[in-house]
Amino acid sequence: MKKIAAIVLAAGEGTRMKSEKAKVLHQVSGVPMICHVVDTLLELKLDKIYVVIGNHGEEVTKAISDRNLDFIWQKEQLGTGHAVSQVKDKLKNFDGTVLVLCGDVPLIRSTTLKKLLDFHMTSDSYSTILTFYPENSTGYGRILRDDEGNVIEIVEESDANEEQLKIKEANSGTYCFNWKKLSQALELLNTENVKRELYLTDVVKIFSSKGEKISAINVEVWKEVIGINNREELANANYEMNKRILKKWMNSGVTIMDPNSTYIHNQVNIENDTVIYPFTFLEGSTIIGKNCEIGPSTKLVNSIVEDNSKITYSIVFDSKIKKGTLVGPFSHIRPGTEISENAKVGSFVEIKKSIVGKGSKVPHLSYIGDAEIGDRVNIGAGTITVNYDGYKKHKTKIGDDVNIGSDSMLVAPIKIGKGVITGAGSVLTKDVPPDALALERGEQVIKEGWAKRKRELEKKRQLKKKDKSKEGS
Ligand code: UD1
Ligand code: CA
Repeated sequence: MKKIAAIVLAAGEGTRMKSEKAKVLHQVSGVPMICHVVDTLLELKLDKIYVVIGNHGEEVTKAISDRNLDFIWQKEQLGTGHAVSQVKDKLKNFDGTVLVLCGDVPLIRSTTLKKLLDFHMTSDSYSTILTFYPENSTGYGRILRDDEGNVIEIVEESDANEEQLKIKEANSGTYCFNWKKLSQALELLNTENVKRELYLTDVVKIFSSKGEKISAINVEVWKEVIGINNREELANANYEMNKRILKKWMNSGVTIMDPNSTYIHNQVNIENDTVIYPFTFLEGSTIIGKNCEIGPSTKLVNSIVEDNSKITYSIVFDSKIKKGTLVGPFSHIRPGTEISENAKVGSFVEIKKSIVGKGSKVPHLSYIGDAEIGDRVNIGAGTITVNYDGYKKHKTKIGDDVNIGSDSMLVAPIKIGKGVITGAGSVLTKDVPPDALALERGEQVIKEGWAKRKRELEKKRQLKKKDKSKEGS
């Protein structure tokens, strides 16, 4: 089988994004655009993948450094033709096909690339171009064909005349080339165009003028090859990619109540019979087990949720929610937290870097930070682990079967032994041994009849006031 190498163009400035970062690093469904392109390519198991980098090249390299890729620097960005030329040294003795694609076309599928490659490999064309019919062809190169329908040229929008601008067939920026022929043609490129760039697309004209065969195949779903040059196109790409991801999960047995308000990142994993309610965002490397209920209005980032758990109106970051757990409504679970099996975290509770043991409950209005809570513990409403002394964070340890009274301040560092009961409203500053009762409050003061007397005095005052105002009138 003939060898195949791929070249991904990712050195451009992306001026139209008006951004401080590289265009190909802008995210589509939670991962940089370039990752989508490269990962799709990796599915094809080609011999080599070259990524041409330039603008913000270090950052681009970093984003995809864990994949098996070769990076080629294009120091000055003199156009897509110039970008491909940078790979010449590496491919000096290469005698095969190159697949060229752009780092800013993130929705392209490996099945489409495979079709393009298969078509090209069985034709004797110098080049096969992947073309499409976009709803709006603004910004794309137009495909020029002769009377017999043969492709003869790609004309860039900025160089096209009025007639050419009416052409609906556009260049997707994805092509296969006979590498030997391409490298010869690259030598003949010039900058006689509006942008003063070396256009890769001009090799088509070079081939056709010599009567060489150029093929083109049409992509089936045009939205797959939209190029991202500005923020509006980025939003469209995010919308399309999200739709694709939601469809994948629905097809694998996940119920999504409202696909229009559900956003799931590319790397998320969800098992079947889980139900996702509206306005839910599943981000990063989040993994959700079977039979869970997530949402409405919930955001999970880089978190694991095990089977049969329910999370409503809540936010969870970098945490683990184990089997059969209830979270929310209105809980904020911050990084490093583990909520164990069958536990419950309720309304207006914030938990940071803590473990909540099996079957334990933090049902209402609490802050738990840097704490280890044992199994079957009940944390009374309004309890706070006072973990910060203004300089350092300290730990709170609570043993199994503890019952913390409502409105308690647990001033860390503190250890509450197994089976302890603490009185409501206590400010606990010292460790409590197992099975003890701990209480900290001033003695209750009772003055009998005091409240009644105060009410009567107040009544008299009001009457006096009224009388005075009558005298005055
Ligand atoms: C390009 C095509 C156009 C096609 C469109 C499809 C050319 C001349 N035009 O236009 O026919 O319809 O893509 O989306 O090829 N890049 C480099 N180095 C450079 C210049 C660009 O690596 O010197 C990279 C960019 O980072 C980008 C890709 O090449 O990923 C395409 O460049 P861009 O400037 O976006 O080209 P378009 O104007 O979209
Ligand atoms: Ca582009």
